[in-house]
Amino acid sequence: MIPLHGDRFLRKITEADLPDVLRLDRETFPDDPYPYFALRQFHDALGDHLLVVDDGTALHGYILATPPLHASSWILSLVVSPALRGNGLGRELMTAMLRRLHEEGAGEVLLTVDPANGSAVALYRHLGFTPYGEFHPEYFGPGEPRQRMRLAF
Ligand SMILES: CC(C)(COP(=O)(O)OP(=O)(O)OC[C@H]1O[C@@H](n2cnc3c(N)ncnc32)[C@H](O)[C@@H]1OP(=O)(O)O)[C@@H](O)C(=O)NCCC(=O)NCCS
Repeated sequence: MIPLHGDRFLRKITEADLPDVLRLDRETFPDDPYPYFALRQFHDALGDHLLVVDDGTALHGYILATPPLHASSWILSLVVSPALRGNGLGRELMTAMLRRLHEEGAGEVLLTVDPANGSAVALYRHLGFTPYGEFHPEYFGPGEPRQRMRLAF
């Protein structure tokens, strides 16, 4: 368990958290949320790297990463509850996960971001990520552009 600012803490997901993570994902990405089966499989296969923000009464965000493979990790998802955005929570989540991936042997961390997602791009840049490779105008299909970004430790 990792203490965060205020009463919040970061902990590993449990099976009982799945409906709340589904809710967070749906309210953040209403057009294209993870389906329940995908979250269920992330829980089973990557649960050690699916961390949720808890305050003892409700969940307020989550972060999902892959463990280092050949010293390379990916951040697959990052969500902060809309009511809490802009208060440093996203930075806390990323910082905690990056520290952990580094300790586990990652030499680099990769992610993709929609260049129009100003808050996410700003967060990743402030953490030291830089654009990596070409811009993909249809990375996740038509109308879903993404830029890869990379942080090297
Ligand atoms: C992206 C997201 C996780 C950021 O979380 P957050 O808690 O709002 O971000 P923070 O308050 O920790 O801010 C982190 C940095 O981003 C910057 N930032 C935050 N919101 C911003 C905004 N709207 N515009 C520009 N910069 C912004 C801050 O200046 C801060 O930089 P600093 O720490 O150097 O001052 C959150 O907005 C979110 O959940 N968005 C929807 C889901 C999403 O887009 N996920 C990422 C997909 S790639």
